Amino acid sequence: MNQDLLNTAKSAAQEAGKIILSALDQPRIPDFKGRTDLVTETDRRCEEVIISYIKKKFPDHAVLAEESGAYDSASEYEWVIDPLDGTTNFVHGYSSFGVSIGCMKNGHPEIGVVLELPSRRFFTAVSGAGAFADGNPIHVSNNSKLNTSLLVTGFGYDHGKKWEANMALFKTFTDITQGVRRLGAAAVDLCHVACGMADGFWEFDLHPWDTAAGILILSEAGGTITQMDGKAFNIYNKQVLATNGKIHNAMLVHTRPVLDTFNLRDV
Ligand code: IPD
Ligand code: CA
Ligand code: CA
Repeated sequence: MNQDLLNTAKSAAQEAGKIILSALDQPRIPDFKGRTDLVTETDRRCEEVIISYIKKKFPDHAVLAEESGAYDSASEYEWVIDPLDGTTNFVHGYSSFGVSIGCMKNGHPEIGVVLELPSRRFFTAVSGAGAFADGNPIHVSNNSKLNTSLLVTGFGYDHGKKWEANMALFKTFTDITQGVRRLGAAAVDLCHVACGMADGFWEFDLHPWDTAAGILILSEAGGTITQMDGKAFNIYNKQVLATNGKIHNAMLVHTRPVLDTFNLRDV
């Protein structure tokens, strides 16, 4: 079964990837879900194509997709889809976006694929069977010190309290690490930790489709994922701390007080 799920996810992501790459040669006019929350025809088209792949193969499975919402069913399987993660980058032609498809079984990630674009690097994982980039096994970094770490984060579209808290953390971590990057595609950021390019990632305002595939890829690559206060993470939690495991506690030392200062525990 898992191989069927993985193959379906891979084919669907590859098809969406072709649509996204071919759209880079054309004008990309966004609609606005919020002042800075963009969506394009390409997001919608990719989502349709991905869902039609899944429904053809697994008509009874439930689906949760960013642009069209939830298709409920009594199935133990639920596909969680971000047809284009990093839409703002895509619109501007900035090179960090991708397709993220996760399949949950009874609420736990079973399959994850993230196709990073425009590089076409393909991250895949099956629960219990390791994580891969373009078919080669990947592992998190061995870095165990914050002062030699490279971190990555993202900022949600709502410029409220969480955004301010993230600014505070951005400063804190920039001061004590080798750098913090803010690339703009959360699923891709998680994969960058999984393959050891970055040592840790945190973000406040994520959605299930941002994390469903990436957290499986990261945990299968040996990483640790919790909420920012250290509690267990599931894809319905909005804030995440995802690291190589070795710097996890050192990051929690800084994230916990910021949650308290901004009264953001359990959000
Ligand atoms: C966004 C990206 C971004 C993150 C936002 C997400 P979208 O996804 O992953 O990096 O900071 O929180 O919403 O809207 O481009 O699919
Ligand atoms: Ca996203
Ligand atoms: Ca998206």
